[in-house]
Amino acid sequence: MNTPKRYLITAALPYANGPVHIGHLAGVYVPADIYARYLRLRGRDVKFVCGSDEHGVAITIKARQEEVSPKEVVDKYHNMIKQSFDQFGITFDIYSRTTSKVHYETASEFFKNLYDKGLFVEQTTEQFYDNEAGQFLADRYVSGTCPNCHNDGAYGDQCESCGSSLNATDLINPKSALTGTKPELRETRHWFMPLDRYEDFLRNWILEENKDWKSNVYGQCKSWLDNGLQPRSISRDLNWGVPIPLPDAEGKVLYVWFDAPIGYISATKELTTDWEKYWKDQETKLVHFIGKDNIVFHCVIFPSILQADGTYILPDNVPANEFMNLENDKISTSRNWAVWLHEYLDDFPGKQDVLRYVLTANMPETKDNDFTWKDFQDRNNNELVGILGNFVNRAMVLTNKYFDGKVPQSGSLNEEDQTVLADIKQYKAAIEDNLEHFKFREALKEMMNLARLGNKYLADNEPWKLIKHDEQRVKTILNISLQLTANLAILAEPFLPNTAVALKEFINQPDKKWEEAGSGQLLETGHELNKPSLLFAKVEDEEIQKQLDKLINARQKAEASDIEPAKEEISFDEFNKMDIRVGTVLEAEKVPKTKKLLKLTIHTGLDKRTVVSGIAEHYQPEEMIGKQVCILVNLAPRKIRGIESQGMILMAENGEGKLVSVVPDEKFQEGAVVR
Ligand code: MF3
Ligand code: ZN
Repeated sequence: MNTPKRYLITAALPYANGPVHIGHLAGVYVPADIYARYLRLRGRDVKFVCGSDEHGVAITIKARQEEVSPKEVVDKYHNMIKQSFDQFGITFDIYSRTTSKVHYETASEFFKNLYDKGLFVEQTTEQFYDNEAGQFLADRYVSGTCPNCHNDGAYGDQCESCGSSLNATDLINPKSALTGTKPELRETRHWFMPLDRYEDFLRNWILEENKDWKSNVYGQCKSWLDNGLQPRSISRDLNWGVPIPLPDAEGKVLYVWFDAPIGYISATKELTTDWEKYWKDQETKLVHFIGKDNIVFHCVIFPSILQADGTYILPDNVPANEFMNLENDKISTSRNWAVWLHEYLDDFPGKQDVLRYVLTANMPETKDNDFTWKDFQDRNNNELVGILGNFVNRAMVLTNKYFDGKVPQSGSLNEEDQTVLADIKQYKAAIEDNLEHFKFREALKEMMNLARLGNKYLADNEPWKLIKHDEQRVKTILNISLQLTANLAILAEPFLPNTAVALKEFINQPDKKWEEAGSGQLLETGHELNKPSLLFAKVEDEEIQKQLDKLINARQKAEASDIEPAKEEISFDEFNKMDIRVGTVLEAEKVPKTKKLLKLTIHTGLDKRTVVSGIAEHYQPEEMIGKQVCILVNLAPRKIRGIESQGMILMAENGEGKLVSVVPDEKFQEGAVVR
């Protein structure tokens, strides 16, 4: 492989609508940072850029929820996110934001240039409009039922349940997120990127030239291309975003997915006057770190935009990760099922490397993976404390004890010594090879194997016993152990930056280069070491239990806020008007061609009657037969799908729309009154 002349590394710009959590770190920022650190250590020319994504409906919806302006939202979260990244040692060369002046200029020029070249298609189409709110409903402002999987919570741009990308007008039963009303259709003019015209280019570029991309990325691209590409609107009717730089385009802004990736360019411009070298020279290797939900934007849409311009390079690789789950459940901001970075730091101050370690060891490189607190504890206690910490500590403590903290002179080497020294070189090569190919878990494993090797070497040779009769042998063993430690101090740096600093301090050797690692002669005989301190501390069961409790509590609180607001007061007489009875279901069958409806025949004590009930997604017909229910018998009959429904059975419904039937506590006589 030829070494590229320079690298431009980008990490997805997080939406500034909330803090960042472990899913963000594991999926994007830790791998990107390991890669950037590694390349810098190799002496390569690297720029690593990121920033906040501050436009789009994600922001305006949050502003409405918090009852503040979009600007206040992005200011607050931009600062918070920036600080979290900083604290976790993510070494961006710049962390900018898409509300910067440079970005507004860059993004509008980009649009203007493609517009002038006639590369967009202008079209008037019908879009949803909320009459009550007096505005068009872009993207997430509309929700409804997904036409593909029938999930009720699909958005106007995407169904998160089945992952399909949607047009708002595809939704069944569309509803405005602003007022809850049914939106109407209104004509509006927009600009479209004709992706269909780029299909040949994309097919050749991805499917032929980029066969080496990760299979999850390549596969997703192939499926997009095989399904055929449609023109995609790149403007929105919104008052938050980069204004469309054309006359007669008032109230229209660039679609957030048009402006945000251009944010990578703007950030580079803000970083260096040399920015064009990083974006326009074929000898630059451009790498986008993203999560899997961003693949189409970085592999299909943004490259088409860059290609349309024609003066930019294309990404060399897009090593997207899958998702990190938490305790066997999808991370969810709205359900507050997440480990937030700022909260982690409050609870585990100074333990950034532990989290980096656990997230890298479980990185969702090829499939979704799971973060559990138990695994966090195990990896900390068994691997960081038990292997890395233990090895380094023994090498240091024994040297202090026997040789006054000075590197002892090595004597003649036996076969095992020679193997250990040769292995150091090999592990280093394996780490490099894995990192060059975005295999972060493997690379980390190799680094730890080096510590494992050291541990085993000490355990096999037992210098604490040998010291009584063979001091020379002990000198050799400790010399080799310290050489190994010095190598770890260098090779751990991309993964565990704080640990690397501590190790260098222990061995009193702050400035050895990556290129020097792999050698058994990093430390000279007689070199004076410093006193070691504790590298990693055990995580106790109580700490883990506390985290688990916290998660459950946070979720309960989030779910409680989904609870329907209280209804207005009624009198006892009003309540008493309802005639509710205990009944038994005699027959049950699905109403043909419906998903939700069951037709029930119920013995009410008064009569046998038919009730149509919307419970088919929660109860099978056979489960209902013989079941007792509570039934409102004096509800005016209604025709549902041509069947007269005579009453209603009582169901409890939770915030997620799950239904359970309300039943008498024991088998009871039909016709008994419920009050
Ligand atoms: N904000 C987007 C997300 O969180 C990512 C934007 S990446 C960029 O999914 F390329 F558009 F910047
Ligand atoms: Zn769906």
